[in-house]
Amino acid sequence: MTSSVTQPADIREVAVIGLGLMGSGIAELVGRSGRRVVAIEINQTFLDQGMARLRASLDKAVSRGKLTDTARDEILARIRPTDDIPAGVASADLVIEAIPERMELKRTLFDQLDEACRADAILATNTSSLSITEIAGATRYPPRVAGLHFFNPAPVMKLVEVISTVLTSPETAETLALLSRDLRKTPVQVSDRAGFIVNALLVPYLNHAVRLLETAQATREDIDKAATAGLGLPMGPLTLLDLVGLDTSLAVLETVQAEFGGTRYMPAPLLRKLCDARLFGRKSGRGFYDYRHGTPSAAAEGHHLASPPPPAEVALIRDPDGLLDELASEINAAGISVSPQPSPQTGLVIVAADPRHRVLDAALAVGHPADVVGIHLVDVADGKPRLAELVLPDVTAAGTAAKAAALAAKLGLDTVTSRDRPGFLTAALAYPQFNDAVRMFQDGFASPADIDIAMMLGCGYPRGPLQMLDEAGPAHVVSVLEAMHAATGDPAFTPVPLLAEYATAGTRFRS
Ligand code: CAA
Ligand code: NAD
Repeated sequence: MTSSVTQPADIREVAVIGLGLMGSGIAELVGRSGRRVVAIEINQTFLDQGMARLRASLDKAVSRGKLTDTARDEILARIRPTDDIPAGVASADLVIEAIPERMELKRTLFDQLDEACRADAILATNTSSLSITEIAGATRYPPRVAGLHFFNPAPVMKLVEVISTVLTSPETAETLALLSRDLRKTPVQVSDRAGFIVNALLVPYLNHAVRLLETAQATREDIDKAATAGLGLPMGPLTLLDLVGLDTSLAVLETVQAEFGGTRYMPAPLLRKLCDARLFGRKSGRGFYDYRHGTPSAAAEGHHLASPPPPAEVALIRDPDGLLDELASEINAAGISVSPQPSPQTGLVIVAADPRHRVLDAALAVGHPADVVGIHLVDVADGKPRLAELVLPDVTAAGTAAKAAALAAKLGLDTVTSRDRPGFLTAALAYPQFNDAVRMFQDGFASPADIDIAMMLGCGYPRGPLQMLDEAGPAHVVSVLEAMHAATGDPAFTPVPLLAEYATAGTRFRS
């Protein structure tokens, strides 16, 4: 039993149970810190696979010059693989469980650990979302049980969520926070609530990306590009789902759905179907992308519309808050003449689009809607658009869309193509997550600073969601969310009361 804070130096032997995606990374990380590791799997086949993954990761570090051959060999010598759970955990100071995200498996294992571990060993679970209180309930001494939640890839991502139940002793939580720092991670301490900080925000966003795909809002590549080029995230949501594993993501969604209800966490049917087909992502060779012949390129060529030559003249109108001047100067700078008066002879009518309004209304007002395409410049904060969303009402002619793509290419703009629904692509992905982040703060679960740090260190966000919300402007975010709500009828997009309050008061979430 722990009655005082165990220092990281006193955690000399760590048993890692489950050597899958996460367990192999955690075992590598702990082995690199100089500690002994017992790497435990359910049978020899999975043990061999897990050790092969771990070895490959170390070999990669050697080939990149980040690790010497000798250091790799020393790390491997400290890792003892076994498929005997009771013998494997018997002398461990700390056990980190990383088996599949299923409560019955975890409870059975913790019941077994209770018998097999030393009485003063700390029992940690790497669960993504399950109730740690319920897992601890399978043991006789819940004060020594806590969540120690690493992020994928474990050796790389800097965050660890240290999760305490109402029964976890402060000493256990403190030891795990100190250990995290010793492993060169940043701990964020939270209480036991489904999805903790990161997954409660990340997984509904991933799910929404799947909904956008299955409702043909955009191609998978463009959905991913909206996140990387539009929001500056290191990976698009569909690529990230493939990295995390669709099965794990679905399990997390089901847990947060059971805890919070509502439509936001309801798994997208396509996600469930891919899981039914055992297309779990990278680990099974196929998910949203196909990895069987190597890593697919981030944006497959040829999915955009075939480009005719760019038009010599376009008509440009505003809808009604789009950044007309920004777009007009971009087009003029490319040597294309801009007319403010659309006529059927102009050929291409560009609407400077705003994610609060669908383009269709402006297109119908023009009188020849088949010639109309919306262009929305994303992120013009520093005066240089990173990405243009080409917004196509269903009435737009294919030839018109191709001319708009040619125009964007001539302007040197990176583009994604979106159907004409409020939010388009980038805001549709990001703003509901900002809303969820405000709800988390409103609930008193985490501070804005902790939320932002968690998303930056756990998922590689360049800035946290609440900082991004401040930059976009709470009032703007509220009106886009309201437009998404009006267009879909989905209550998930209703701005939470605190966001509406901040928008009215002109207050920021991060000072
Ligand atoms: N294992 C070990 N190291 C790895 C690795 C792996 N699987 N993948 C990448 N790396 C290392 C590389 O070796 C490289 O190291 P050096 O800089 O020392 O050479 C470094 O990471 C960067 O790798 P790359 O240059 O190959 O790739 P990148 O720059 O595109 O970065 C990434 C890859 C770090 C994964 C980045 O794309 C990223 O941050 N993606 C977001 C990942 C994310 O959101 N994770 C959280 C998922 S949610 C979760 O985990 C919680 C849950 O419960 C589901
Ligand atoms: P995984 O499917 O890749 O690996 C799980 C491993 O556990 C498998 O190798 C399996 O053979 C093994 N296993 C199953 N039952 C076992 C048992 N009783 N004893 C020992 N080993 C057993 O899963 P994963 O993605 O590594 O996830 C593991 C845990 O980590 C889950 O709780 C998951 O939610 C969590 N997590 C996952 C990620 C991620 O991005 N995948 C990130 C953070 C946390």
